[in-house]
Amino acid sequence: MSHSFDTIIERRNTACLKWDALASRYGVTGDDLLPMWVADMDFRPPEAVMEAMVRRATHGIYGYPAGLEAYHQAVGSWLRRRHGWEVQTDWITSAPGVVATVNLLIRTFTTRGDGVVVQPPVYYPFFSGVEENGCRLLYNRLRFDGERYTIDFEDLEEKLRQAKLLVLCSPHNPVGRVWTREELLRLGGLCVKHGVLVISDEIHFDLVFSGHTHTVFATLSEEFAQHCIVCTSPSKTFNLAGLKPAMAIIPSERLRRDFRHTLRACGIGNPNVFCLDAVKAAYECGEPWLNDLLGYLEGNAGFLQRFVAEEIPQLCAVRSEGTFLAWLDCTSRGLAPKALEQLLLTKARLVLNQGYTFGPGGEGFVRVNFGCPRTVLEDGLSRLARAVRSL
Ligand SMILES: Cc1ncc(COP(=O)(O)O)c(C=O)c1O
Repeated sequence: MSHSFDTIIERRNTACLKWDALASRYGVTGDDLLPMWVADMDFRPPEAVMEAMVRRATHGIYGYPAGLEAYHQAVGSWLRRRHGWEVQTDWITSAPGVVATVNLLIRTFTTRGDGVVVQPPVYYPFFSGVEENGCRLLYNRLRFDGERYTIDFEDLEEKLRQAKLLVLCSPHNPVGRVWTREELLRLGGLCVKHGVLVISDEIHFDLVFSGHTHTVFATLSEEFAQHCIVCTSPSKTFNLAGLKPAMAIIPSERLRRDFRHTLRACGIGNPNVFCLDAVKAAYECGEPWLNDLLGYLEGNAGFLQRFVAEEIPQLCAVRSEGTFLAWLDCTSRGLAPKALEQLLLTKARLVLNQGYTFGPGGEGFVRVNFGCPRTVLEDGLSRLARAVRSL
C-alpha cells in the first residue's frame, strides 16, 4: 500500500464539525473526548487534490468559474470506469450537496401531503427532507435477524401503494448493506408497478468491500433508468464533504427538465472554484489512493468486528459490506437510548451517533465512524469496552 492512513492529523480548532462542535451538539467539553460520529474521515485526500486546491488558492483570484463541461466529463468518466455506467454528460446536474439535492428533488416531484417511502433505520436527514417539504413519511422498516438487514418487500409494496416517491439509500447508511442486484431488481420492479419515482442516494457507492458489488440503480434496466434519479458525490470517497460537491444524474429528459427548473427557481448555479478543481483532480488522479483507502477501511471494519466479538461480547457489530460506518447492536444491555448516550459521553468520553436518531428500529444501536487511523479506532473501541464492562 503506497498511501498511508495511519498518520493522526490534528483536527481540533479547524472549525471542524466532528471535533469542534461537541459543546453545541452534545453539551460536552474537554480534550479527552473522542468523536467518532459525523460521517467524514480523518484522512487527507489524494495529493493531486491538495495540489489543485493550492494552485487555485495561490492564484489568488476567486471570480466566477467556467469549466463545468470538463468537470462533468470527469464525473462521467468515473462512472464508466468504476461503475460500468455509460452516462451522457447532459444527464448530470450539479448541486450543492447530496442532502440539498435530495430535498430539492422531493420538492420538485411531490405536492403537499404526498407519501414518501424511506427505509429506517436510515440516514436521518431524509426524515426532515420529507416533512419540511410538506410530505408524509412512510416507513418501510428494514428487517434485522440479529446479524444482517434485509428489505421487507411485503411491507414495501403496502407502502408503495400510498406513495409518490421512494428515497433509497444505496449502499445503506447506517446498516452497512450493499444491496444486491436481486434486491434492487425486486425493489425497482415494485416501484415501477406502483408508479413510484426512486431517488437513489448513492453517495457511498465507491466504498464497497471485497465480496460485494455496488449496482447503480439506473443501470438495472432502461425502465428503471427512466423512473429514477441517482444522487451521488465524491465527498465520502475522497473526504471532500466541506466542499459540498454533488450531482443528480437523470436519464429521463422530462425529470431533468423539471429538476433544472427548480434549481433555476432557487437561483442555484454551478459549484464553486475549489469544488470544481478538487473534484476534477480526485476523479482524474485519485484512483490509486482510493484503492489503498478501500484496503485500509476494510482492515478497520475487520478489526472492529473482531474487537467487538472478543472484547465486548455483550454487543454485536453488524458486518459492514461498505461505507466507513459500523452499526453496533447494544440492545442486550437493556439501556434506554438516552442512558446509553450518557454512558458513552460521561464514562467513555466517546461521541457516537445514537441509533434512535436514525428512526424506528434504531433504538439501542450506535453508529461508529471508522474512517480514522487504526490506533484511533482501537482507542475508541477500548473506551467502549470499558464503559460496557462498568455496567
Ligand atoms: C446517505 C447519505 N446521503 C447524504 C449525505 C450527506 O451529503 P452532503 O454532505 O453532500 O449533503 C450523507 C452523509 O453522511 C449520507 O450518508
